[in-house]
Formats: sequence, C-alpha cells, structure tokens
Amino acid sequence: MSSNELISTKPPKERAFLVAAEIRDADRLMDTEDSLEELALLADTAGLEVVGETSQKLDRPNVSTYVGSGKVEEIAALAEETLADVIIFDDELTPRHLRELSKRFGDKVRVLDRTALILDIFAQHASTKAGRLQVELAQYEYRLPRLSHAWGHLGRQTGGASGRSGSVGGVGLRGPGETQLEVDKREIRKRITILKKEIDSLSDHRKRYRVQRKRSRIPVVALVGYTNAGKSTLLNKLSKSDVYAADQLFATLDPTTRRVILPGDRVCLFTDTVGFIQKLPTDLVAAFKSTLEEINEADLLLHVIDVSHYNAGAQFESVKQTLEEIGADNIPTVNVFNKADLLDGDPEETKKLLAETDPDACLISAKTGEGLDELRNAIMETLFEKMVPIRVRLPYTEGALIALFHDQGVVDYIESGRSDVVMSGSIPTRFLTSYQPFFEDDETDDDTEQIS
Ligand code: GTP
Repeated sequence: MSSNELISTKPPKERAFLVAAEIRDADRLMDTEDSLEELALLADTAGLEVVGETSQKLDRPNVSTYVGSGKVEEIAALAEETLADVIIFDDELTPRHLRELSKRFGDKVRVLDRTALILDIFAQHASTKAGRLQVELAQYEYRLPRLSHAWGHLGRQTGGASGRSGSVGGVGLRGPGETQLEVDKREIRKRITILKKEIDSLSDHRKRYRVQRKRSRIPVVALVGYTNAGKSTLLNKLSKSDVYAADQLFATLDPTTRRVILPGDRVCLFTDTVGFIQKLPTDLVAAFKSTLEEINEADLLLHVIDVSHYNAGAQFESVKQTLEEIGADNIPTVNVFNKADLLDGDPEETKKLLAETDPDACLISAKTGEGLDELRNAIMETLFEKMVPIRVRLPYTEGALIALFHDQGVVDYIESGRSDVVMSGSIPTRFLTSYQPFFEDDETDDDTEQIS
C-alpha cells in the first residue's frame, strides 16, 4: 500500500470555527488576535482543522449568548458556509452561555470553549495514573454545573477522554421520582469524591518521596514556562536523556524527573513540569495542585522563555501570574531565554538588551547547546554559592535543620525558647525549601527589631 493510500484512509479532521470577544476593560495579557492565534494552535494540537474565525468588541459579555444576538446569527451563517463541526469560544463560557448557544446553533454543530479544549488536550496527553486522575477530576468539575438534560449531547462535547466518561450517567441507578439529570449529577459527584481520594493518596505518596529526597539533600530544580517554550528539549540536553519533545502544546503533562550533573560533579534533580498557558482553566489549576506542588517544593526554578516568540513578554507575565497563584513566586528563579538560534541580528546586541531586562538571565539554545555552560554555572552559583536571608522558628525536634543552619549557613541571631528556637541569618539557596514550613512572619513578630 502506498503512503498516499495510507493517508487517505485517515478519518477527516473535524472542522473548527473560532470566536473571540474583546471585552472592554478586561484584564488580559494578549490582544484578541494573538489569543485567537493561540486558540488555533490549541485546536490544531487537539486534532481539529481551523476553518475560520471571527471576533466582536463588547463592553461586557452578553449574559445569555456571550456575544451579541446579531453576532450569533452571523456566526451560525459562517459556520454553515465553512462546514464547521465545532464552534470554539476563546473564553470559559458559563453553563447558561453553553445552553443558549447550543440551542441557537442547532444540532449540526457543537459548541466548545477554551477550557473544554484545553481539558481535552490534557486528556489526550496524560500518561501517568496521577495525570489521568487529575484531568478526569478537572473534566467532571467543569461539567457538573454544565450538565443539561441532554446527557448524550454532553458526552460528545469534548471527545478524547470525555467519551469514556459518559458511562457515569448509566441507567439502572435511578431512585424513585428522580430524573435522569439528577441521577447523572449524583453519579458525577460520587465519582468526584472518589477521584479526590485517589489523588490525595497519590499525593501523600509523592510527599513521602519528596521528604526522602530532601533528606538526601539533593537539590531539586523545576523547569517552568509557557507551553512550547522548550523545557523538555532543555531537560534532554542537560541530562542527555530522551524526554518527549514535540512542537505541540502541552506535550509534557506529567512531571518527569532526571538526574543532572553540574560542574564540580554536583548532582541535581531536574523536574520538567506541565506547560502554562494564559487563561489556564481554574478547574485545571485546582486539579493539578499535586503536580504543581512539585514546583512549590523545588529549590530553584528555571523559567524557560521562548525568546523568539513574538509574544514572549505576555507569555512571561502569564507564567509569573500562575506561579503567584500557586504560591511559588518566592522560590529563587533563573530566567532562561531559549531558542537564541532563531533570533536575527547580532547575538551580542541581543545579550546586552536582555541583560538590561534581567542581568542574571541566561540566553541559550536548547537545540544547538549554545549558552548551556553559562546556564550550568548560573544554576551552580544560585544553588551552591548564593546565600539567602531567612528567619525561622524551629522546634527542637528538627535538630537536623538546626545543625544544618549552624554548619552551612551564617547565623545572625538566635533565641532559644522552651520548645523551639528562633534563628535568623542566611543559608545557601538550595536549602531554602527545607526551611519553608518554619518561616517566621516578620510583621507578626515582636522580636523583629532585635534582628535587623
Ligand atoms: P510543553 O510540553 O508544551 O510544555 O512544551 P516544552 O516547553 O516542553 O517544549 P518542547 O521542549 O517540547 O519544545 C517545543 C518545540 O520547540 C519543539 O519543536 C522543540 O524542538 C523546539 N525547541 C526547543 N528548544 C529550541 C531551541 O533552542 N531552538 C529551536 N529552534 N527550537 C527549539
């Protein structure tokens, strides 16, 4: 069989029509055009073919149809003209929006939103048990309030793992006087509780593993960054391993940890994490809490930025916002400007310009290996040489941490109490997260004056 014949047997891609609203005064990082372009990339990653797009400027979203009713008519006509199977809105739609729009667009075309699309991509890419459970939980949390009488319709809504989950609404469990909708909702709530329990137990297991890892005092570096920035490629290069890297959004969903040897034979563990994206669904952030905990417990973050991307600035801000949201904004961070090989112009000039933005940043190409020695040195320096100021209250049961502060840190102040000791001074950055649970809040402590 020829390769052409093989290609022709593939089922045709579903056709997607994209819709965005530019809401006045909305707090957004990207303009509508860029956001639509990103949505098109997401649709492509989900295996859809984008056949058209439109947008509308609005003071505020329409309560029932998100865009104005005239626009709804226009979209319906455009969708028909382009033979679209799905209409995707570039924002999270409310349950009412979904219901009303589905009614207006009729049976021939499905309505999706950005959140459902991202959830679908995550469902396709989750490969570990934890990843799959977390995506399933996020999908149910998203669906529960959107459940309508048409269960079958919902089962079709996102494809991927969603189809599988349709079985939850199975018949045979109906109580007296209950509608199918009530049964479905009850079943979903039950499933959500089970999923949360399973995720918690996996999370406990990971926590125990992390405690062990901490005891071994091997520093952990987490790679964070916008989707497609080049995190996996960088991890491959640094660890000479073969982590899956693809020019696709969210190719890496589950954290991958690799051992990396730094100059002076120092060993570190590097963790690749899920890529971030603007308008990351809140259900997803919540469901991925345990994966994101990996970031929170890292000793150092490498924020990988695709410097060749026209929207690098907005992507950078979006990642910083998510880090703040998950409480990881205090972890020492090295900014890594990646894909230097794709930049035009004089590389020295670029370096100078970047140094003005952040003098400690590294300019690298994970693909060609350029700048990796400087990056290794920067990681070494931050982890093993740089000292950070801290103030902690350590119970005497934490004897190892008290001893470590004396051995490896510089103690400026110490006050021994009956059951604990307050210590302030500085410690090497790599130990910071071990002390994090014992941080003392300066503002609420009367002793602050004595220390400074
Ligand atoms: P997610 O899994 O979506 O979070 O992506 P990621 O950040 O792990 O990105 P990944 O390493 O998968 O790389 C995305 C694409 O960028 C791939 O096609 C890589 O080959 C490409 N890429 C990564 N680094 C470089 C680089 O330095 N230069 C060039 N030209 N391409 C790069």
